[in-house]
Amino acid sequence: MKFALVSTVIMASIGLLNPAHAASIDKGRAIVEKANCASCHGAGLNAPILPAYPKLAGQYADYLYYSLKAYKVGNSNAQYGRNNAVMGSQVQSYTDADLKDISAYIASLPGNFVIKK
Ligand code: HEC
Repeated sequence: MKFALVSTVIMASIGLLNPAHAASIDKGRAIVEKANCASCHGAGLNAPILPAYPKLAGQYADYLYYSLKAYKVGNSNAQYGRNNAVMGSQVQSYTDADLKDISAYIASLPGNFVIKK
């Protein structure tokens, strides 16, 4: 009991627990459809229109959030930001909560990253 309480406090203090926002797949879907992300990333976000455009469906939500946040940060943090004009302009208007919703939705889509042996 005491251990659970202490570990919860520690996790919250380093940002692993974020009770303020539980990602919503439905909200994420609404944002992705409105923004028409499929116009580049293709049907189901799994069939990009050009080979240089990444497949997204089924990617880990943590990674998607990290990458979307990195596009938003852009040049303002050279250590972390991703400097890409196309994606940078896509994500500017979204809050962190929006990016988490988007990530949860994309992670929920069936993708073909994993090839079963
Ligand atoms: C105009 C075309 C275009 C549109 C529209 C677009 N993207 Fe992208 N997206 C790209 C390109 C090109 C890249 C690769 C950029 C790079 O090299 O970093 C990319 C990369 C990404 C990545 C990083 C993937 C990885 O594996 O690192 C994510 C996540 C992503 N897009 C999500 C979205 C979402 C969500 C939307 C809608 C809000 C969206 N994209 C709309 C073209 C587009």
